Amino acid sequence: MGFWTNRKVFVTGGTGLLGGWLVRQLLEAEAEVVLLVRQETPKSMIVRDGSIEQCVRVRGNLKDLAACRRALDDHQVDTVFHIAAQSLLGAGRLDPVGTLETNVQGTWNVLEAARNAPVKQIVVASSDKAYGPASRLPYDESLPVAGRHPYDCSKSCADLITIMYAATYNLPACVVRCANLYGGGDLNFNRVIPGAIQSTFKGEPFVIRSDGKAVRDYLYVKDAALAYMRVAERLAANRSLAGEAFNLSTDMRLTVTELVNVVLRLMDRRDLQPVILNNPSSEPREQYMHSTKARQQLGWHPVYLLEEGLSETIDWYRSFFADSGSLI
Ligand SMILES: NC(=O)c1ccc[n+]([C@@H]2O[C@H](COP(=O)([O-])OP(=O)(O)OC[C@H]3O[C@@H](n4cnc5c(N)ncnc54)[C@H](O)[C@@H]3O)[C@@H](O)[C@H]2O)c1
Repeated sequence: MGFWTNRKVFVTGGTGLLGGWLVRQLLEAEAEVVLLVRQETPKSMIVRDGSIEQCVRVRGNLKDLAACRRALDDHQVDTVFHIAAQSLLGAGRLDPVGTLETNVQGTWNVLEAARNAPVKQIVVASSDKAYGPASRLPYDESLPVAGRHPYDCSKSCADLITIMYAATYNLPACVVRCANLYGGGDLNFNRVIPGAIQSTFKGEPFVIRSDGKAVRDYLYVKDAALAYMRVAERLAANRSLAGEAFNLSTDMRLTVTELVNVVLRLMDRRDLQPVILNNPSSEPREQYMHSTKARQQLGWHPVYLLEEGLSETIDWYRSFFADSGSLI
């Protein structure tokens, strides 16, 4: 019997990129998965591959504390992965209140529900964006969270609230701060990697809105999902990890233009050079982390090199577009 066998696990955000891969890996490890589902997007990976049918589904919105309580109480949940969020920077600027409600209130709802339930491990998705503009790079976990824009700030708040619940209520909760994630199943086509792959399949140059020089690190979603599981396993073995945050990254940095060029090379379309609009951007020029703490304390390290992860991702979109009968 493995750690996850028959373990009742509550996941929010299972119809999204990270949540989808986490659900798949939990099911593979024979966990019993309970999902909070706001809406069953038909194109979502776990809807299309049928994984969602193997989960218990609780319909509800993160903003609804009663729905979060119902999910935990009715199903005797042991482990919580709070992954759901309004995850887009641009949408955050357009709707700061909605973003704060989903990401901040949504997080305290999940934690408040967990406070009154016999939950043993909680892992909450934060982000590199939670650090805000860098006073030094690469980010390490000793830096304060200080996001300045709506999405970033919402993640800073959710992150800090998780640490508050661990410190004040002894909740067994950890925070995970990931670099930019990529992988099949991401239906946010205004993100660089899905957008670049989609444009290239269309035979069109990808349009980079900025000057393409922003430096970021990128992590394959399968590596991230396994790391989330590792955090819960370690927390189960060592409760003193409660309140700790872990960065997850590959320690490899690229500009947006360099990243798009890797996609073009892997798709054998170097002729489709990106169009660079050079629009002004208030996002940090450089944002990257190191993940020494996760490597040392969790024994985690990313398995996928960028080109391997991107090749799998391109294959995933190839079959997704073929099944959809269009490039959307
Ligand atoms: N994608 C990245 O590059 C990245 C990087 C670092 C951290 N993160 C964090 O990881 C998590 C997952 O990101 P993602 O890219 O997989 O997101 P995503 O946009 O692909 O999926 C978001 C999920 O949250 C759900 N959701 C949104 N609002 C909800 C609400 N009000 N009630 C219930 N469910 C709701 C959606 O239905 C979906 O399942 C987020 O917390 C995000 O902030 C993402």
